[in-house]
Amino acid sequence: MGKIIDGKALSAAVKDEVRAQVGELEAKYGRKPCLCVIIVGENPASQVYVRNKVKAAAYTGMDSKLIELPADTTEEALLSQIAALNEDPSVDGVLVQLPLPKHIDEEKVIDAISREKDVDGFHPGNVSGLWLGKDCIVPCTPAGIIRLIDSTGESISGKTAVVVGRSNIVGKPVAKLLLDRNATVVIAHSRTADLGAVTRLADILVVAVGKAGLVTGDMVKPGAVVIDVGMNRNAEGKLCGDVDFASCEPVASWITPVPGGVGPMTIAMLMQNTIHCFLSRMQG
Ligand code: GUN
Repeated sequence: MGKIIDGKALSAAVKDEVRAQVGELEAKYGRKPCLCVIIVGENPASQVYVRNKVKAAAYTGMDSKLIELPADTTEEALLSQIAALNEDPSVDGVLVQLPLPKHIDEEKVIDAISREKDVDGFHPGNVSGLWLGKDCIVPCTPAGIIRLIDSTGESISGKTAVVVGRSNIVGKPVAKLLLDRNATVVIAHSRTADLGAVTRLADILVVAVGKAGLVTGDMVKPGAVVIDVGMNRNAEGKLCGDVDFASCEPVASWITPVPGGVGPMTIAMLMQNTIHCFLSRMQG
């Protein structure tokens, strides 16, 4: 019987820590950290994520700005908005919600955010920092996944970790974080020949593909820690993960639910990253 990893409770605890820090930082530096979130267009899922990010910032007491731009915003207009925020001394973190409308080059936009204000950890300077083991902003979802695994009390060192998915946002960075914690890491993906044979090796299984019910109980090693990063809508419009919870939960030792697992932790880590950016700027 798998025990549930309660991402909502852990996220609440982290946000409370951040809330206390915000008070201390304001007393020390005379201003609060400030997160600026930009959304372009009206993707309903993105609108929910962005609203939750701004709500979390308000809860911690930090300042936040939400910039909502129409779907037909030009790349040039978005880049000049980012340039203005890079220069604005009252802003510590800049986040552009992805995906962007097709006519905007995401890579250009990510590169345009100053490395110091890149709370997502997507800027090439932060990505290279992660892979070279230097000080950097770590992407929120991967950082949250490590916190979730640590919360189980299970050690990562020496374990076999299988990551399903190779995105820049989750798969690749979480694989590096697991490697840093001395896991033996395998990255599986859509061309992996026998996915079940690979996932059954995993003591720690992280699934970040975006395909509802991809991983079923027969693909999970008994006693594995299972982390489900998927956020899909099923036919009834209900939120569900990449892991078939009903069949995997009895096999796993620990498992994250969807919703209430990885999602809330991503937001809590964003709050921590904003503090990190604030401190780097204040301390130079
Ligand atoms: N879209 C899906 N996940 C993320 C994320 O972590 N950050 C941003 N900016 N966009 C996303």
